[in-house]
Amino acid sequence: MRLHSSTDTVGIILAGGSGSRLHPCTTVTNKHLLPIGEMPMIFYPIKKLVAAGIEDILIVTGTEHMGDFISLLGSGKDFGCALTYRVQDEAGGIAQALALAERFAGGQSMCVMLGDNIFENPILPLIEQFLARPDVAHILLKEVPDAERFGVVEMKGTRVVRIIEKPEVPPSNFAVTGVYCYPPDVFDIIRTLTPSDRGELEITDVNNAYLEQGRLHAAMLEGYWSDAGTFPSLARANELVRLSPPIV
Ligand code: DAU
Repeated sequence: MRLHSSTDTVGIILAGGSGSRLHPCTTVTNKHLLPIGEMPMIFYPIKKLVAAGIEDILIVTGTEHMGDFISLLGSGKDFGCALTYRVQDEAGGIAQALALAERFAGGQSMCVMLGDNIFENPILPLIEQFLARPDVAHILLKEVPDAERFGVVEMKGTRVVRIIEKPEVPPSNFAVTGVYCYPPDVFDIIRTLTPSDRGELEITDVNNAYLEQGRLHAAMLEGYWSDAGTFPSLARANELVRLSPPIV
């Protein structure tokens, strides 16, 4: 019998979206190709996944810059992984981008990373927790000063009871980071979603669906973490990496 290992888990990096909050820097290129420290942003999630033993990775991005991603990253051999690419025709949300990975995942579990999340610590502990309970979705939380920009958890004691996407009044300071592990049935859950008020299929709705089924596990992400989708957060991510490069 073959034991379940991280090599049975595929990696999915979501690198689409319009990048409108970074115009004009993203008018003719993709946010994930902008520099963080001495590397393009997209290098960071790839390296995190490979360091955790995940060698089959799908990159989802829009039509406009797919060619640039392929020119930059190629087959993935320089990273020690095999890269596959999938086009998201329109930026219909994170869950819509993830839905495009169904055929690639082929019934395997997955570690999903938002391509604009930059953080310090390795993801191996998350993967190990996930492999111990592969039927449960795993998310990572980080305490932040500006929770209204993120998916935010509402807690009762130590228990997560709800996740709210960009709440005007955050019920806690704990943001849901863009690093998720999902069982293969995530695609069945996405099929039940309807677009949010902003017209997107929300990853927060996916996580709330697991929560309602009693199948969501949340842990804290140690070390620094930042997204890089706005000018202040892009600058912050650069500063964090300059002071202390991520551990892979
Ligand atoms: O960074 C963590 C946050 O990311 C979470 O706390 C939120 O729950 C989650 O919704 C997301 O919030 P943002 O508003 O920051 O997401 P954004 O639209 O910036 O998209 C994040 C990444 O997802 C982006 O780097 C590329 C990818 N993406 C996004 C969209 C909307 C796609 O691949 N396709 C898309 O259609």
